[in-house]
Amino acid sequence: MTDKHFTLNDPESGESVQLAVHEPTVGPKVVDVTQLYGEHGVFTFDPGYAATASCESSITYIDGEAGVLMYRGYPIEQLAKQSTFTEVAYLLLHGELPTAAQLDEFDHSIRTHTMINESLLRFFNGFHHNAHPMAMVSGVVASMSAFYHDSTNIHDPHDRDVFAYRIIAKIPTIAAAAYKHSRGQPFVYPQNQLDYCSNLLHMFFAVPSDQYEVDPVAAEALDLLFILHADHEQNCSTSTVRLAGSSGTNPYSAIAAGMSALWGPAHGGANEAVINMLEEIGSADRIGLYVSKAKDRNDPFRLMGFGHRVYKSYDPRATIIRETCHRLLERLGHNDTPLFELALRLEEIALKDEYFVEKNLYPNVDFYSGIIYRALGIPKSMFTVMFAIARCVGWVTHWREMVADPGTRIGRPRQLYVGPTRRDYSPIGSR
Ligand code: SDX
Repeated sequence: MTDKHFTLNDPESGESVQLAVHEPTVGPKVVDVTQLYGEHGVFTFDPGYAATASCESSITYIDGEAGVLMYRGYPIEQLAKQSTFTEVAYLLLHGELPTAAQLDEFDHSIRTHTMINESLLRFFNGFHHNAHPMAMVSGVVASMSAFYHDSTNIHDPHDRDVFAYRIIAKIPTIAAAAYKHSRGQPFVYPQNQLDYCSNLLHMFFAVPSDQYEVDPVAAEALDLLFILHADHEQNCSTSTVRLAGSSGTNPYSAIAAGMSALWGPAHGGANEAVINMLEEIGSADRIGLYVSKAKDRNDPFRLMGFGHRVYKSYDPRATIIRETCHRLLERLGHNDTPLFELALRLEEIALKDEYFVEKNLYPNVDFYSGIIYRALGIPKSMFTVMFAIARCVGWVTHWREMVADPGTRIGRPRQLYVGPTRRDYSPIGSR
């Protein structure tokens, strides 16, 4: 707490209210309103929480104006170039980059806990083959609480570690089981000798009838995408995990709640929506039509993959993915270049249009990611599941920070009530 204060003056009562200010290590200061209602009988009002700090956190920092993203202080550009998803997962979970021995031990823990209970596998037979993979994955993740309910004491740091490693290890297996079920193919068991992303690709694409060798270029591309998607401060799904977790619920259920929030097209579902949009646009000569639709306030159409609540300049993740796309499409020998070229042309046209410029609408992480997922042979119905696999590390990290914080209270916002004032019930005969 600082001795600095922020003064509010109430024009009605003439009262001036002094509110404490908390200083960050970097970024905006915060005005502490925790006593505002108790001492002054007023709430703050911030639908969508655009100007509300919901918690104190030391995990990820974003500067939306400068296009900065840091995990535990390390710039995303450096982690994308020099790290691996497993190392980034350790960094996010434990706050420091691991030594070689720590990384080996963490990697071994993950590799040797990738199998899921055979009963959990049978859940997939209950889904129709055309069930959306996000519905299957979020349902099965929530069901994990049925298998680990008694072995998860959220107040025990050891149990919190076990939960973290268990779900990070198993979520690719659950995702692969959903994919195989949707393809009508047999489930492929994880292989402990494979690294995280190679194992996922193997579970997705291996079939009993043929040999399957993981393409290291594909594994490297997936690892990069997972690093970029691992965490992103208090986004919608992470805030959902924190809010659900604040009731003390089973952590698997809190993660499943976050997964449901991620699925929305305004959030993690946008990567699937971008490809649908690009396929609908079809060719560069139709871009103008869709840009006009996006600008038309009477048209619900939005340019998917554009805009961001925090980034009012380039999303650094989009920059990294766009720069990687060209190289990967060439190395993967994939013919999706026309779709990528269409995306580049759309970005070029949109960023010259004053509507997008004045509203600071730039490509976000979802604009190009789907192009790489397609080049890896992953169907668009699985794109948000891929986002969820990576973001599970962030969700788990924020859940651990929230549960371990002695200051955590159950999340319970208030409201500006604009409904009817008190009135008496009238019998149906007199209505
Ligand atoms: C992710 O929070 C995170 O960190 C999320 C994420 C993460 O890593 O967790 O980064 C991942 O969710 C990225 C965002 C993916 N979603 C999309 O690409 C969907 C398209 N984008 C929009 O729906 C929108 O930009 C949001 C949801 C991303 C942000 O919405 P905001 O902050 O509530 O902004 P807004 O809706 O109030 O828009 C401000 C203005 C509005 O115009 P006016 O009413 O002021 O005239 O900009 C317009 C909007 O109509 N606008 C768009 C637009 N996005 C905003 N107009 C056309 N196309 C768009 N994409």
